[in-house]
Amino acid sequence: MDWFRRKVFVTGGAGFLGSNLCHALAQRGARVVALDGFLFGGGANPRNLDGADIDLVRGDIREIDLRNLCEGASVIFNLAAQTSHMGGQADPLADIDINAVAQVRLIQAAREAAPEAIVVHASTRQFYGRVETLPVAENQPVAPPDANGVSKFAGEQYWMLEHRVRNRPVVSLRLTNCYGPRLRIRDARQTFLGIWIRCVLEGRPFEVWGGEQLRDLTYVDDVTAAFIAAAENPACHGQIFNIGGAPPASLRDLADLVVKVSGGTASYLTREFPADRARIDIGSYHADDTAFRAASGWVPRTGLEEGIGRTMDWYRTRLGDYL
Ligand SMILES: NC(=O)c1ccc[n+]([C@@H]2O[C@H](COP(=O)([O-])OP(=O)(O)OC[C@H]3O[C@@H](n4cnc5c(N)ncnc54)[C@H](O)[C@@H]3O)[C@@H](O)[C@H]2O)c1
Repeated sequence: MDWFRRKVFVTGGAGFLGSNLCHALAQRGARVVALDGFLFGGGANPRNLDGADIDLVRGDIREIDLRNLCEGASVIFNLAAQTSHMGGQADPLADIDINAVAQVRLIQAAREAAPEAIVVHASTRQFYGRVETLPVAENQPVAPPDANGVSKFAGEQYWMLEHRVRNRPVVSLRLTNCYGPRLRIRDARQTFLGIWIRCVLEGRPFEVWGGEQLRDLTYVDDVTAAFIAAAENPACHGQIFNIGGAPPASLRDLADLVVKVSGGTASYLTREFPADRARIDIGSYHADDTAFRAASGWVPRTGLEEGIGRTMDWYRTRLGDYL
């Protein structure tokens, strides 16, 4: 696909994944319009878009006129979401307002203003819940462990319905834990790796909760490549795909790798999983993403050691902007 001068609309464009995608699209010459409401507690950071030649609109997807923003877009990358699992439990109405009701607003606006646009929707592996068999393929039954999982599943399903009833080219990517530059590192709200990196750069030990859980982290450049490949490949349209990343590693293995990448200066403590989080924890997860690889030709290219190293280097000179 030739992205040059193509209008692309990115929701959640000042967040972690959205901003990385905006940079990549702008580098390809696309006319990028990004929407972000800078929601408290999420990954939005104005510094995330430093140096990106894009138009950022500050506004809330629940209220703003979305037709103007969609007008003329040939691709919509839909990443705006309430992403906090504890936040969704605390305020499930706000959670469903953003992750499901506002999705229907966007669907209706896109029907009017961008009826032909391809939509790539950011979904999540979260709503598979606790699984017994690994790796997890797309036919795994859905059993959301928390309110956020319910709302994200509903949002995805409204988009897939739009494909079935209106034939819109929609792709839903069920992402696993992602990491890399522009991740929220102030606390553990985005992933455990964020707060680990902060602690390492501040010279403090980080905490590992549990330790045996398996994760298949995706480096952000590979996530960006997956979004772009999903839009570009007609074989992906109308499909839901799991997206994995590095081969599965336990949290303890990941912690040891962080220590190694730090040159042995970092250290960590192991703690029992906090009871309030244990109730909504999904245990071990890794994706079977062979369907997406076959449809798009995508493969994750960044290994864990390289990705963690690049992430730490990126924050070394920018720590103050992210605390
Ligand atoms: N990062 C991951 O590991 C991961 C894993 C699975 C799924 N996802 C999905 O990917 C997408 C992006 O996640 P992220 O990690 O970049 O999170 P993020 O919090 O950094 O980005 C989401 C962005 O959406 C914006 N937003 C939220 N509500 C809004 C509203 N009402 N109006 C306008 N903007 C609003 C936030 O301000 C934020 O900038 C989300 O849909 C998320 O569910 C991410």
